Amino acid sequence: MLHWLWEDRILKTQVAIIGGGPSGLLLARLLERRGIQSIVLERKTKDYVLSRVRAGVLERGFVSLMKEAGVSERLEAEGYPHGGVNISFNDDMFRVDIAALTGHSVTVYGQTEVTRDLYEAREKSGGIIEFNVEDVVINDAKSDTPYLTYSIAGQARRIDCDFVAGCDGFHGVSRQTIPEDVRTEYEKVYPFGWLGILSETPPVNHELIYASSDQGFALASMRNENLCRYYIQCSLDDKPEDWSDDAFWAEFKRRIPASAAETLITGPSIEKSIARLRSFVTEPMRWGNLFLCGDAAHIVPPTGAKGLNTAASDIHYLYNGLREYYENGSSTGIDAYSEKALARVWKTERFSWWFSSLMHRFPDQTEFDLKMQAAEIAFLKSNESAQRAMAENYVGLPY
Ligand code: APR
Ligand code: PHB
Repeated sequence: MLHWLWEDRILKTQVAIIGGGPSGLLLARLLERRGIQSIVLERKTKDYVLSRVRAGVLERGFVSLMKEAGVSERLEAEGYPHGGVNISFNDDMFRVDIAALTGHSVTVYGQTEVTRDLYEAREKSGGIIEFNVEDVVINDAKSDTPYLTYSIAGQARRIDCDFVAGCDGFHGVSRQTIPEDVRTEYEKVYPFGWLGILSETPPVNHELIYASSDQGFALASMRNENLCRYYIQCSLDDKPEDWSDDAFWAEFKRRIPASAAETLITGPSIEKSIARLRSFVTEPMRWGNLFLCGDAAHIVPPTGAKGLNTAASDIHYLYNGLREYYENGSSTGIDAYSEKALARVWKTERFSWWFSSLMHRFPDQTEFDLKMQAAEIAFLKSNESAQRAMAENYVGLPY
């Protein structure tokens, strides 16, 4: 399949995709399955992209999209379906039976593996990914003939296209290309971070534990039966090197329920990092023929594991809009993209904000605030409707 043409050193394609993370790769894969040409520009190397440690809980919609993209074989073979999730408040833990409440499960499968599978599919198809690109500029986005200019190893390049998909994350060029007087940005920065480790030890529990404790939040997650991903809420002043493994394990044990702490198997960390938490949305998600997807348009705190899953719904809407354009000559889908994507983005922002506000300790919290958190968790424990509302958000709202 001819992807691109060299004419006077100008590449031509239908959709130019900036960003070789999960958003850009998933869009490229879905498009190529319908014979729609794309080129992916990535500023790092493939190894660098795959070295980034990210979350690992996939919504049902994401799994369906990976099946539609024809890249779900390993996910279905190695992913772990989880029909429940655990919430604890100090030593009191209860399970939310998300499968019974919604008829769906989530799948535990690392984002790194998702990205790896997408790279492998793109390489097999011969689809173009340009790595180590520099100085990407989006030109004439408001025209019918937008084009990208960029360089590789000092050589100037240009891509002429019909559409530009800005899948270049929070620090990318796409969002900044939309004029400030066109953009409205919403942000909430949380007064703490997450210190996360990977350890090659058996998970403390076969399902996730989201733990609220007097010492702060903790999360027990995993990648497989011998690779755990654990987090503790930490100060924004902390650095990973401030935390020895022993100090991490001691604090983690204090925050998860005693019943879990007693069986916890500790070991050396093979990765240790701190993530800062923010909620962020930019509106609109379209400007002319530039479409923002994923982290380029929005950020959620990791508490609800919604970062990748919200990028997926953006990609679902944009992919179907572009399919409609190229296959039926209709721009209805792409014209509705920003409004449709934002409607789901804001519901996901709300869930992530709610869950973060519920489970963490805030520096300026009053005793009354603490009582409200305890009462809300007690209500969640005792009320099926409250659990169903949480479960429906956790498995993923419909696209
Ligand atoms: N030119 C080319 N590539 C760029 C540029 C640029 N100017 N700026 C950023 N990139 C690349 C980054 O190197 C990265 O590989 O764009 C990619 C963006 O990937 P992500 O940041 O992973 O964003 P996205 O694909 O939307 O995936 C969202 O990733 O960061 C997590 O928590 C986030 O789970 C969520 C998911
Ligand atoms: C993870 O496994 O890294 C993970 C799981 C659930 C979250 C956040 C991170 O909410």
